[in-house]
Amino acid sequence: MALEIKILPSVLAADMGRLEAECKRAIDAGADGLHVDIMDGHFVRNLTMGPDVVKMARKATDSHLSVHLMVTHPQNYVDAFIDAGADTVLIHVEAQCAPAEVLDMIRARKARAGLVLNPETPAESLEGLLSGADEVLCMTVHPGFGGQSFISEVLPKIRKVRELGPRIDISVDGGIDGKTAPLTAAEGANILLAGTSLFRAPDMKEAIRTMRADAREAFSGSAK
Ligand code: DX5
Ligand code: ZN
Repeated sequence: MALEIKILPSVLAADMGRLEAECKRAIDAGADGLHVDIMDGHFVRNLTMGPDVVKMARKATDSHLSVHLMVTHPQNYVDAFIDAGADTVLIHVEAQCAPAEVLDMIRARKARAGLVLNPETPAESLEGLLSGADEVLCMTVHPGFGGQSFISEVLPKIRKVRELGPRIDISVDGGIDGKTAPLTAAEGANILLAGTSLFRAPDMKEAIRTMRADAREAFSGSAK
């Protein structure tokens, strides 16, 4: 099946006091699902949410939930997040785990398995791991906080990952907005994870619509 552009707003930028309404607002605005950022205060300095928040998002919507584990030992949390309703679980290649085994754990639970590369981590670190992954997430900021500036030096790596996996889903996360989304799609990214630019947009529906149209156009030209 041909790869499609998907847009998943990151709830890190939502009004957390109104999480259920915020999840619904994003889906009603045309999002393909939601992205949930889990930080353990160790792999990254920040602390965010746990499986209960994923459960709340699951109650709010039937749409796709992508859960990004910025934790040192993802192997200890895979089951809890899938039980809570995660459809995709993304683990960092830099985490303290055997990535191939954790990807297998995720797939064994019938969820989609994703591998995440920090901005400095080269595409070569995917060697031997791609066949076990449904998605590769190229971080376009240093993980830990929302609202950071896009790191354009990551763009050539996205193209390399696309060459290594012509049919794999490639996502990008961090500083993704109307301007940067098409830049990543032009290199082969097809899943756009965006917090600030969508949840804080004056008109979320319009922000998603234009991001999708511009990314589609850039992505269709990316093979040239
Ligand atoms: C960064 C997180 C991102 C973050 C993106 O550590 O993984 O998902 O929420 O936020 P924005 O779009 O605000 O850069
Ligand atoms: Zn994320």
